[in-house]
Amino acid sequence: MAPLPLSAPVFTILGGLIEERAGLHYRADDLELLRDKISSRAELMGFDSLLDYYYFLRYDAAGSAELDALVEALVVHETYFFREADQLRVLFSSLLARRFTQEGPVRIWCAASATGEEAYTMAMMLADAGLLSRARIVASDISDRALARAKSCEFSPRSVRILPPGGEPRWIRRDGDRVRVDRSLCDVIEWRRVNLIDSAAVAALGPFDAVVARNVLIYFSDQTVRQVVAGLGSALLPGGLLLVGASESLLRYGTSLACEEHGGAFFYRRVV
Ligand SMILES: C[S@@+](CC[C@H](N)C(=O)[O-])C[C@H]1O[C@@H](n2cnc3c(N)ncnc32)[C@H](O)[C@@H]1O
Repeated sequence: MAPLPLSAPVFTILGGLIEERAGLHYRADDLELLRDKISSRAELMGFDSLLDYYYFLRYDAAGSAELDALVEALVVHETYFFREADQLRVLFSSLLARRFTQEGPVRIWCAASATGEEAYTMAMMLADAGLLSRARIVASDISDRALARAKSCEFSPRSVRILPPGGEPRWIRRDGDRVRVDRSLCDVIEWRRVNLIDSAAVAALGPFDAVVARNVLIYFSDQTVRQVVAGLGSALLPGGLLLVGASESLLRYGTSLACEEHGGAFFYRRVV
């Protein structure tokens, strides 16, 4: 079925509403992408005009829940085990090593964990290093659907497209066309739904020794990145570290966090 027509002005107001709710930013050349996804959702809800769908989202009592469902349809959960793992190895084996010898649990937040592979990767690394019982891992995402998948411990083989140097981790078991992660790892992770643009929710979670927020800032405008990074920075303990994706340098945003390079990876430290 052909998608519903989306004019430039309706694209602007719908895009604005989505950005207000979830921070997701769409440029003019994303119009077709957005039209196809919104159109499916609008038709499912019985609309034949995207302007009417916009009014429903904005003003109807049921609009807020539908806006969450629309965001669910738009977010991209691309992730896999051991993605950008060298940065995590440096974090655990070097930057947090002394902290692990000190009193109190080491608090780590995986802040856009999608379907959980990144948080499980951290748990596997810490378990293999004998440090898991010293850590508290919080894993969050805006998407309830992604979090439900994470908690199911069940993945597709595509999630295991990269193996760590020691080969397939002992925590992963292949079962036909599914991959299962040891349930004990799921149980030590605290799974939460958190919208990163909700600064009160972000502040309430902290403080952390490290916040891992990788491959999510790319979906936000510069202004939202600044706001989210400021929030994540305040969720860090003094001396705590923020990790972003390899393609997400923060230097052009003028953050108050200090950029450090260790083992070929970048880290942003809260200095005050
Ligand atoms: C591409 S995945 C990144 C997953 C993982 N961090 C990694 O690097 O493999 C991006 C995730 O960010 C989440 N996301 C997008 N906007 C968000 C927001 N405002 N708050 C929290 N999570 C958000 C999406 O639901 C998605 O699961």
